[in-house]
Amino acid sequence: ACPQSFVFFVFGASGDLAKKKIYPTLWWLYRDGFLPEHICFVGYARSQLTIEKIFQNADKYMKVHDHERDLYKKFLELNHYVCGSYDKSEDFDKLNHEANKISQHTSAHRFFYLALPPSVYGSVSELISTHCRPGAPGWVRLIVEKPFGKDLQSSNILSGHLSKFYAEEEIYRIDHYLGKEMVQNIMVLRFSNRIFSRVWNRDSVAAVKIIFKEDIGTQGRGGYFDEFGIIRDVIQNHLMQILSIVAMEKPRSTTGEDIRDEKVKVLRCIAPIKSENVVIGQYLGDKESKDSERQLGYLDDAGVPKDSTTPTYAQTILYINNERWDGVPFILRAGKALNEKKAEIRIQFRDVPGGMFDENGSKAPLARDELVVRIQPDEAIYLKVNTKRPGEMSYSIEETELDLTYNERYRGVKLPDAYERLILDVFMGSRINFVRSDELQEAWRIVDPILTEIDQKKLPVVPYKFGAAGLPQAFDAAVKHGYVFTG
Ligand code: BG6
Repeated sequence: ACPQSFVFFVFGASGDLAKKKIYPTLWWLYRDGFLPEHICFVGYARSQLTIEKIFQNADKYMKVHDHERDLYKKFLELNHYVCGSYDKSEDFDKLNHEANKISQHTSAHRFFYLALPPSVYGSVSELISTHCRPGAPGWVRLIVEKPFGKDLQSSNILSGHLSKFYAEEEIYRIDHYLGKEMVQNIMVLRFSNRIFSRVWNRDSVAAVKIIFKEDIGTQGRGGYFDEFGIIRDVIQNHLMQILSIVAMEKPRSTTGEDIRDEKVKVLRCIAPIKSENVVIGQYLGDKESKDSERQLGYLDDAGVPKDSTTPTYAQTILYINNERWDGVPFILRAGKALNEKKAEIRIQFRDVPGGMFDENGSKAPLARDELVVRIQPDEAIYLKVNTKRPGEMSYSIEETELDLTYNERYRGVKLPDAYERLILDVFMGSRINFVRSDELQEAWRIVDPILTEIDQKKLPVVPYKFGAAGLPQAFDAAVKHGYVFTG
């Protein structure tokens, strides 16, 4: 057998994330020829399992086509499983020994993917570093999943712990939104189009909205969710990451450090969110719905305490105190159990000054221009503009769209899954799309005080029905801060 020069470890190999995302992604990357030739994979978890059983459980997510069966078999042969604890030195010695044996190599490069509950991050990361590092010249890359702590303090403790055992360059903190096509496109849109770069500031922009909506509830994941709530689950990470790319200054280059330097700089200009700029809500079941899932409210989820006030919806409005953005509201809104699944960014431009178009004798305000980046579903960029209503004799105006819908313009182009891009980035050693520890710290600093107030139940939790478009209180607050609904 050929010595393997890369070993990819999956910690938490028996868990949900491994089954639904990590193993399928590794298979697709292998199938498409993106992985190095000499590689093997070692799953690790506490349960007495076999690699066959793990792949049986993951089977429906792997999407293996009939003509790929032989290749898939080869992939399976590269996979192994070791069972052990998350806190005993001897188990990590055993793992190290097994990995050396499997790869026939003591200095193969090693990837460690921690798909684990946060309670064991500390011990596992330490034991990997002390027992499972390869001999020189082999290197280590540690891939970690959120939650990176629960608040500023716990996140700093975790970061401090990791930094004792790993150099920052060895750590890849995943925020899977950074692997999405449209999030990756923001930089190109901003910095390769003069038409946008000139207006990307407070002189022209009235408000920015970053929205995340889901049409599903917690679906039995309530036990986990209840400890976190929507701000920690989605806003502190995904939406704040998007905000930093939308608002940052132009990086000096496309290297990971230059980009992350600019992202963190803009986060530093944001004061902690004030409670008067926050609306939170929790969903109730819709008893009239024909869909049995929609009949269930958040409190009906078996893992959720009956008196929980954890928010499943939140809107936070932030301001960036720098020359480019002073006074422009950034409205971050996220909710579960709403009427649709959608994630988008809306850059709304200011009113046109000096109106000249007369509609019905009154100078009606024109609709504002708006640039929309639809992250999902159905990726698109469109610009809402005013145009003369076609065929009419008078100057009557209507709003329309300059529309780049990917399905139409790029029909047939496969957009890789976020995890495919990110795991490939880890292989290539590219850290652009991973969160640096200072970014993480700034994002926590911004949300930390409001999380404390929410945890202490100081904010009213507005109930909303499963399937609602959102909370009227949130829409009103957005309008109060200067956002105008354009329809
Ligand atoms: C995860 C959150 O980070 O993102 C989930 O923990 C959420 O609650 C998910 O459902 C959404 O990801 P996507 O890619 O489906 O928008």
